[in-house]
Formats: sequence, C-alpha cells, structure tokens
Amino acid sequence: METSSKKSSAELKVEILRLKREKGALIMAHYYQRDEIQEIADFIGDSLALARQAAKTDAPLILMCGVHFMGETAKILCPDKKVVIPDVSAGCSLADSCDPEEFKKFVEAHPDHTVVSYVNTSAAVKALTDIVVTSGNARKIIESLPEDEKIIFGPDKNLGGYINSVSNRNMLLWPGACHVHDRFSIEKILQMKKNHPGAKILVHPECRRPLQLIADKVGSTAALLDFASEDDAKEYIVVTESGILFEMRRKCSDKIFLPAPAEDSECQCNECDYMKMNTLEKVYLALRDEKPEIIVEEDIAAKAVKPIERMLALS
Ligand code: 13P
Ligand code: SF4
Repeated sequence: METSSKKSSAELKVEILRLKREKGALIMAHYYQRDEIQEIADFIGDSLALARQAAKTDAPLILMCGVHFMGETAKILCPDKKVVIPDVSAGCSLADSCDPEEFKKFVEAHPDHTVVSYVNTSAAVKALTDIVVTSGNARKIIESLPEDEKIIFGPDKNLGGYINSVSNRNMLLWPGACHVHDRFSIEKILQMKKNHPGAKILVHPECRRPLQLIADKVGSTAALLDFASEDDAKEYIVVTESGILFEMRRKCSDKIFLPAPAEDSECQCNECDYMKMNTLEKVYLALRDEKPEIIVEEDIAAKAVKPIERMLALS
C-alpha cells in the first residue's frame, strides 16, 4: 500500500474534496488541527461540538481529524458508520494518564460515588463512567447533580479543581493532566501582560489553578472563541493549544491574538504534538484507503455509549 502520495498541498486539497464528494464522507476537525486541515474540514469544533455532530450525521464515512479518543467517541455514537482517523498513533497524554485498570480500582474503592469522566479518556475508562463531560459542559453537568452527591472526577485534575472551586464541590480528583496545558508558565504570561496591558487573558480549564485565577475568561476552546467574538478588547493572550488561533483570527480579523509561551523555551510546548501528527497527506490517504479505521470492542462500546448519551442529553 502506498503511504506517500508525492502530491502538493494544492493537489491534496483537490483530491480530498473529490474523494469526500464521491464517498459522501464527513470531515470533522478539532480546533487544534493544523490550519490546512481546518481549512478543508466540513465541520470544526471543540470536543463537545464534534461529539454532537457525530451523533447526528447521516454520512456513511466519518474522517475525524483530531486524536484517537475523538475517533472512538464518534464510533461509539455511530456504530454502523465507518470512522477513520489520519494517524492511529495520535493519542492524548491526558487520556494516557488514566489507565483503565487503575481507574477501575479507584472507582471500586469509592462505591458510593458517581463517576464523571472527561471526554479525553479511552473507551475502556468511559465504560467505567456514569456521565461523560467535556470542558464545554462540565460545569453545567456537575451543577445539575445534587449538591451532596459524592463524585469522582477524572482524569484532569486542573479541570476538576476548577469545577470544585466555581461550583463549590468537593469531587475526588484523579491526578491526570495534559502535557500541553499543564506546562504553561504563569511568569511568562504575566510578563506578556506587562508588555500588552490591554490584552485579555483567555485560559483553558486544563491549565493550572494560578492561570485560571488570572484569566479574564476560563473556558473550552469554543467558549474562548465565543468570548473573543463578543468582547470589545482588541488584544488577547491565548493560553491553550495554539491551533485555536487559526479560527480566532478567521472569526475576528480585526483583533490580535497572541499565543501564550510555554515553560520550556526549547520546544513548541503550546502545540500538541499528537494533534499535529495529522497532516494533509495523512488526511488524503485516510480518505482514499478508508483506514486506519477505529474499532471499539462491542461490550466496551455498549457500556461507554450510555455515559456519552447522558452527557448529550444533559448539555
Ligand atoms: P475542548 O475541545 O473541550 O476545548 O478540549 C480541549 C482539548 O484538549 C481537546 O483535546
Ligand atoms: Fe490531549 Fe492535551 Fe493534546 Fe488535548 S492538547 S489532545 S488534552 S494532549
């Protein structure tokens, strides 16, 4: 099987659009995808919007440009459709920070707790979960539960800590984190703010608490985008994966968006290397060959679909 097409970007785009029409495929992309992938996608969104769109599509073939758990979520919601992703090794450090066997032991040690899991988890962890949430609906869903309900929240300790503080809860937190969001440096961001005093600070809740506290807005990628579109500031410091800047600049062409630097100046730490594994070339090949295909074991999928559907009903 040919693994490289030797086509230019322009040729790849033409071929992708042709294949998409021929196959009746739907191309979805997360906001953290490379600009050229967001450009050719039929639908771009945050994790919540991608799940909602997958749940309602009629397309027989879904190409999910994001990371592995996003393809799994789409497959669990659409078991009769073929779901492919550009690169099967595009994982997620946050999902990897929650091993299903260890999580099972944690859940079993707290049998009187409701288990709430972030969508950034494997299907096996979702199968151990009562309600799935995304950063776009976590607060609303947690606040819909009785105040005295005992809750386990996994795997993101920063998002869980944020909900605990804004919703006055005391959820038990799994100690997981995302290697991109957990590494932003507050010192560098405060320095940036000094140089751009009029800029507002937009922070994803997967970032650490001190960053949440200096934010003008804490929210999912879609919530940050909406905030910037409706707000009257001219400049923003964006503390999340830098792929979101493409849509921010497209939606608000009169504003300035500054990517927040990360702690480690040696690497592009405000980029998710998993998200960036997907390229236009891999998108083309995945659409052409209809692989790598996402397969979820039937018994896991049957359990995992319930907390995802519960989330969609609650948000
Ligand atoms: P949202 O899409 O919910 O903003 O989450 C960000 C993320 O890290 C996805 O991997
Ligand atoms: Fe996972 Fe973090 Fe990458 Fe999102 S940005 S896919 S949470 S590693």
